[in-house]
Amino acid sequence: MELIIKPGMPLQGSLILPGDKSLSHRAALFAALADGQSVIDNFLVAGVTQVMLGAISAVGVSWELRGSRLIIQGTGLSGLRPPLAPIQCGSSATTIRLLAGALAASGIPAVLDGSPGLRRRPMKRIVQPLHRMGVPIQASDGGFAPLRLAARLSSQFLHALDYTLPVASAQVKTCLLLAALAADGPCTLTEPEISRDHSERMLAAMGVDIQVRGTRVTLNPPGSNRLKPLHLVLPGDISSAAFLIVAALITPGSQITLRDVLLNPTRTGLLDALKAMGANIQIDVRSDLGGEPAGDVSARFSILNGIEIDGTLAVRMIDEFPVFAIAAAFARGQTVVRGAAELRHKESDRILALCAELRQLGIDLDETSDGFRILGGKPVRGGKARAHGDHRLAMAMAVAGLASETPVSIQDAEIVAESFPGFVDTLRTLGANLRQES
Ligand code: S3P
Repeated sequence: MELIIKPGMPLQGSLILPGDKSLSHRAALFAALADGQSVIDNFLVAGVTQVMLGAISAVGVSWELRGSRLIIQGTGLSGLRPPLAPIQCGSSATTIRLLAGALAASGIPAVLDGSPGLRRRPMKRIVQPLHRMGVPIQASDGGFAPLRLAARLSSQFLHALDYTLPVASAQVKTCLLLAALAADGPCTLTEPEISRDHSERMLAAMGVDIQVRGTRVTLNPPGSNRLKPLHLVLPGDISSAAFLIVAALITPGSQITLRDVLLNPTRTGLLDALKAMGANIQIDVRSDLGGEPAGDVSARFSILNGIEIDGTLAVRMIDEFPVFAIAAAFARGQTVVRGAAELRHKESDRILALCAELRQLGIDLDETSDGFRILGGKPVRGGKARAHGDHRLAMAMAVAGLASETPVSIQDAEIVAESFPGFVDTLRTLGANLRQES
C-alpha cells in the first residue's frame, strides 16, 4: 500500500489511543503465566500483539478478544504445553525475547523463530545470561533466531544470577526476570541506565517479590507461590501518541489532546526533549492506569529550536527517534543525537534507514556512528520515502508530509499496522489529508 500525505491541513481534536504496546505484550504473556483468569481492557490489537497471542495459544493457553478486551485463562508456569511446531514470532523482538524467558522458566522444549528481519536481530544478549542460569537454549549462527530450548525437569531449578547488562534493554531485563521465576535464589540485574520498568511494576502487582534500587532490580523467586491474575485497563500508547504530538507541533494551526496516555517517566523522554525545544505541550498526570502513571497530553503548533540529546535521555525516548528527527528538521538550528547506537538494532538499522529517507525528503543531516546531526529550519521538500519494513519509520515520514512543501508518499506503508493499525484513520479524524493506494 502507498500512503500519500498532502501538507497544509491543521490537526484538531481530542482522542483516546489504544493500549501501550509494551504493556499489552507483557499483560498477555504474564497473564498466561498467572493462576486463573485475567481481564485486560484497552489491549492493543495490532500485528505485533497478535503474534504474542499466537505464541500463547501455541503453548496451550486459551484467550478470547472481545473488541479491545482480552480475557486469558492463565495456566501457571507449570501448565504450559510444548508447542507442536516452531513458534512464529513474526517481526516482534519483544515477543521472542520475553517468550524465551518465560519458556526457560517453564522448562518446556520449544523452537522460537520469526521473519527474516527478526532473524537478523541480536539474540546473544539473552542467550549468554540464560546460559549462566543453566537454561538449555541454543541460538543459530552464533547468536540469532531460530532459538532452540531443550526440555528441563520442573524439579530442576535454574541458577540464581547476578548480572550487569552491557546495554540498557527492557526486553533483555524482562527475559531474565521471567527466567528468574524458576531460579534457586534471588536474581539481581543491573543496567547502565534504567530502561522501561513495566515488567517490574506488573510482576509486583502479581505478587512477585521484586525490589528496585536505582538501576538495579532484584527478584526473589516465588517458589511454589502462584502468580495472581491481572485486572487492568491499559493507558494509551505513548509511542503512538508521539507521532500525533509531533504532527501537531509542526503543522500550523494545530491543537490536539490525547487522553489517558501512559506517562511512565521511563517512557516520556520525547516529551522532555520537545519541551526543551520550546514545544507548547501540556501534561496532566491524572491517574493510575494498569499500575502506571497516566494522563492527558495537549500539544499545539510551536516554534521549535534545535537541541542536543545524550545517552541517558536517549534510553527514555529510544523508540521515538524517527519522529523526533522530524521535529528536529522543522526546528531552527542544529539538533545533535549521541549515545543512541542501539537504534542500529531495531526493526531496521534506524540510523542508516532514517538518514537515507530524511535526505530523500530534502532534509540536511549527517549520520554518525551513534546518532545523527540535523540542520533544521529549512523548508522540507517532500517526495517519495520507503518504510524499510519499519512501522515507526513509515509513520515518521507520514508526519513529515503534514508540513512539507509538496506531498510525501510512502511505499509499503501497511507496515504501520504492526503497532498502530488506526494510524491513518486517526490522522484523518484529526483533519489530515491522506490517501491510500494499493
Ligand atoms: C521494548 C523495549 C525496547 C523497545 C521496544 C519495546 C519492550 O527494546 O525498543 O520497542 O517492550 O520491552 P530494547 O529492550 O531492545 O531496548
